[in-house]
Amino acid sequence: MDKIQSLTGMLDLYEDGDNTNLSSKIFETERRIKKIFSSYQLNEIRTPALEDTNLFKRSVGDVSDIVNKEIYSFNDRNDKSIALRPEGTASVIRAIIEKKLDQSNHKLWYMGPMWRYERPQKGRYRQFYQAGIEILGYKEGSPEFEMISIICSIIKEFNLKDCFIKINHLGSQENKEAYCKALTDYLAPFKDKLDSKDLERLTRNPLRVLDSKNEETILVLKGAPSIKSFLEPSALQLLEDIKNQFGDICSIEIDHSLVRGLDYYSGFVFEAISSNLGAQDSFLGGGRYDHLCSKLGGKNLPSIGMAIGIERFASLIQDFTLPNKIVSFITLTSNLEPKTYKIAHQLRSINKNVILDTELAEGSLKAKLRRANKNNSDYVIIIGEEELAKGTAVIKPLKDELEEQKIVSIEELFSFYKTI
Ligand code: HAM
Repeated sequence: MDKIQSLTGMLDLYEDGDNTNLSSKIFETERRIKKIFSSYQLNEIRTPALEDTNLFKRSVGDVSDIVNKEIYSFNDRNDKSIALRPEGTASVIRAIIEKKLDQSNHKLWYMGPMWRYERPQKGRYRQFYQAGIEILGYKEGSPEFEMISIICSIIKEFNLKDCFIKINHLGSQENKEAYCKALTDYLAPFKDKLDSKDLERLTRNPLRVLDSKNEETILVLKGAPSIKSFLEPSALQLLEDIKNQFGDICSIEIDHSLVRGLDYYSGFVFEAISSNLGAQDSFLGGGRYDHLCSKLGGKNLPSIGMAIGIERFASLIQDFTLPNKIVSFITLTSNLEPKTYKIAHQLRSINKNVILDTELAEGSLKAKLRRANKNNSDYVIIIGEEELAKGTAVIKPLKDELEEQKIVSIEELFSFYKTI
């Protein structure tokens, strides 16, 4: 029989105790990012993976590559076109409007899989995970600083090197329109140099031409007008202020050619880039989208958000040390000894910062110690027939060479465990 395999561009992730593999880094990234989100008093929101396809057409934009080519959409049994979400922002706004929460402020986060039918390559998958934030109902100003502060906290938490944050401003609606006209006028004589994709962008959303990967277009763009000269002084000041205040925490660069791939952006936009990612160099992106809520039928709700690509982010982590100590709990009795499980349970309840890994498999002490080493354990607690009879346990340090193995009473074991 043919083997059934996973679909192209979709990963199975599983944690095997080795903190150098991508899966472990992904899970650890998710755990720590959630803690950072909570420390900024953000609330979780979880929306369905499937939505009405029209939601993405009206938000992400039917000019964007995402809706044009990358969306996983199909008809359900009632012939309604539904889609696997390619991103989280549109769903969050849809939910907020539906619950009539679009007249108040919200600070939200989400984490989950997204789907885009892209050509898979390093750092680009068809199912990938995002951790996102949406700050809703606040005008330009404080939320921009809060957003950059969160990004810096996340970069610092994992000690990421060789990365920087690019920031830009797309201006007000009028600024944007004036700039689009100037860009279109400039590009008009070069139309024969643009490929079909850029020509389509030029007619439907000229700003997106700035994102072209076509070498000829990139060359032509060298002489193009910059959005800088179309921006209000307050927009330029915001970029300078962010760079000045946070530039010593994370590297920040003002890049007036930064435009984002989704249609809903207006105002402040940003991306975090790493030179260690290859062609897919952006591990996080976002910006202000003040008109999305009203465009989807809700109230006027000025908003800003961002999403981190978890796989890309995790692949940048050099190494991480687990925040908690790990102790392996090994029993060496020929019969199942219920009492040992009670001891393990009591140990767990007296120190919740320690990860207690109870060895469930049968086997020799040697095999069990090998596993404890592989699991990165700091200590092993061993209870065999003899220890059980005498009411003792063996504590064996695995990492600290100066510390010696010792035999202790169960009371002493509890006191030791409390202080790990
Ligand atoms: P985005 O730039 O399309 O923005 O995606 C955010 C991040 O998701 C990217 O920087 C990248 O790391 C990751 N990503 C995107 N596509 C893939 C893929 N095929 N494989 C792996 N990782 C990928 C958004 O999605 C917006 N919703 C962000 C936002 C929130 N803006 C405002 N609020």
